[in-house]
Amino acid sequence: MTDLVRLEVEDGIGTIRLDRPPMNALNAEIQRGLIDACREAAERDDVAAVVAHGGEKVFAAGADIKEMETMSYTDMVDHSSLLQDFTRALARLPKPTVAAVTGYALGGGCEVALACDWRVAADDAKLGQPEILLGIIPGAGGTQRLARLVGPAKAKDLVLSGRFVGADEALAIGLVDRVVPAAEVYDTARSLVERYVGGPAYAIRAAKEAIDRGLETDLETGLEIERMLFAGLFATKDQKTGMRSFVENGPGKATFEGA
Ligand code: HXC
Repeated sequence: MTDLVRLEVEDGIGTIRLDRPPMNALNAEIQRGLIDACREAAERDDVAAVVAHGGEKVFAAGADIKEMETMSYTDMVDHSSLLQDFTRALARLPKPTVAAVTGYALGGGCEVALACDWRVAADDAKLGQPEILLGIIPGAGGTQRLARLVGPAKAKDLVLSGRFVGADEALAIGLVDRVVPAAEVYDTARSLVERYVGGPAYAIRAAKEAIDRGLETDLETGLEIERMLFAGLFATKDQKTGMRSFVENGPGKATFEGA
């Protein structure tokens, strides 16, 4: 357990709150805390969707450089799987996720945002993968998830130069989905996922998984993943409720209970 990451649950939405002032530098403790918070958010029935948030001033300025500075190759062989595990925990969370990005989202911080389904940024936010300026490369999925999100040319522009992008450029290249004044970031992020509270949780989970797993493979394998997940939903109460409600009452009136 750590105090550096909290899962706060309100009205069906879990907020994974990074809390390590001044910059939310992601040390090993916060990385492990993120994994625990994701596990709890995945397991809890009262969490339908998740907002990742670093507070009003900063999302996260990256992995803790002071902790990594003296690490050797063999230290990093052990540590580097944790670096990928904490963003994987977020990416694999079987519920919709959105990053509420204020201030800086750099390096590992940007990679946390990349592991979410969507990103809302403050109009003065700065995002980037500045690892190259430290003589390293992104290690928490940045080279892979950024390229899949914005394409290889833009990803190479950001990763090879280490330059920061402002919110408007981030919106233009598809790195973020919404830009709002800083004071509205968290509420806007919440409002993006509020619609999933009380929704058909298994279908939402299957839809996210089909898209994410499908993007990791070839089309035929992706279609097979879709086919299996599609058929599997016919074993759920949600499918029975959704279709019966349509037949009896028309579209959009179903009340889902889950499972
Ligand atoms: C450790 C950090 C830090 C970091 C900031 N600090 N970022 N400590 N790790 N990533 C510390 C500073 O040392 C300083 O501590 C305090 O936070 C405030 O930072 P300042 O630099 O004084 O603030 P400012 O001038 O406003 O600049 C903010 C900043 C800059 C632009 C965010 O701090 C910066 O460039 N940080 C590093 C960003 C970065 O390179 N991130 C990638 C990390 S590598 P003191 O004690 O002096 O007050 C990475 C690898 C990913 O993420 C691998 C997988 C996770």
